[in-house]
Amino acid sequence: MIRSVITGTGSALPVRRVSNAEMAEMVDTTDEWIVERTGIRFRHIAGEGETTATLARDAATRALDAAGIAAAEVDLIVLATATPDQTFPATATKVQAMLGINDCVAFDVAAVCSGFLYAVQVADSMIRSGVARRALVIGAETFSRILDWEDRTTCVLFGDGAGAMVLEAQESDEATGRGILATKLHADGRHNELLYVDGGPSTTGTVGKLRMKGREVFRHAVVNLAAVMGESMALAGLSTDSVDWVVPHQANARILDATARKLGLAPERVVVTVDQHANTSAASVPLALDVAIRDGRIRPGQIVVLEAMGGGFTWGAAVVRI
Ligand code: UT7
Repeated sequence: MIRSVITGTGSALPVRRVSNAEMAEMVDTTDEWIVERTGIRFRHIAGEGETTATLARDAATRALDAAGIAAAEVDLIVLATATPDQTFPATATKVQAMLGINDCVAFDVAAVCSGFLYAVQVADSMIRSGVARRALVIGAETFSRILDWEDRTTCVLFGDGAGAMVLEAQESDEATGRGILATKLHADGRHNELLYVDGGPSTTGTVGKLRMKGREVFRHAVVNLAAVMGESMALAGLSTDSVDWVVPHQANARILDATARKLGLAPERVVVTVDQHANTSAASVPLALDVAIRDGRIRPGQIVVLEAMGGGFTWGAAVVRI
């Protein structure tokens, strides 16, 4: 059978790294509070000249190098972001131009923190239906530009960055072959007011700032993430025991712990980068995946579950044999 196989990953972070101590100089917070409640120690913040598109380009270039293919061979770019360079055109087309690809399908997906999971399902569907053969799937964000830097309940939680993967159509053995084995997505639009941006082109004509009722989001996150991971593993015909790694959305170390516990997964099997990157929204899953592949933790043949939940609410999971 034809499956979408991950043949390369890459990631990129802004140059400037900001510690919790520096955050405490900006708002009324402490390193102790941030570490205890979230596990976050550092975040990267985009500087002049660094945008969602430049971070996406750098992550994509590294993913193409790892896959050993030329940019011109890409026939699809799906870019997940809630912080595009411009309201339109899609940031994917900007990245396409930066990579020197003159003709391919390129568009953005907006599902906030679960955007990368949405992008993976769309790209995988297009590959398996035969309309694309080599896709760049990217999650890239500059949330620092939509944060209220006077609101300590949100500004300490987020960071900027990008992650990318190359997905290629390959013949794959049904029982043991590599590739994306299952994806499952959800949305429940009743929860808009728990996590949103208070502006937009069609309402205020402004970009707006991020607003979140963190405690309520936390509660939904643990329940929804454990459920959707279970669903995706059932779709792939796999039990929890066969999962080598979980690469979760990196919002809060306590959410990662609680979700793993709910599923009976050992904490050692969960990839954690929230301490170094904070919450990079759609970038967090591909960024964490790239880190764990490059440092040798995730190896070919292993079963990896990707999962995320965010504004909307939207949430989803994917099961992959690497
Ligand atoms: O990526 C999309 C998904 N997003 C998430 O998954 C985020 C989910 N939520 C969370 O991660 C957590 O709820 C937070 C980290 C946002 C907050 O942690 P919490 O344990 O739920 O704290 P809380 O909101 O209940 O606030 C506890 C106290 C409050 O003070 P009072 O009302 O008890 O006096 C806050 O005002 O902590 C206070 N507080 C802070 N104190 C120091 C809130 N932010 C800060 C801060 N520094 N930065």
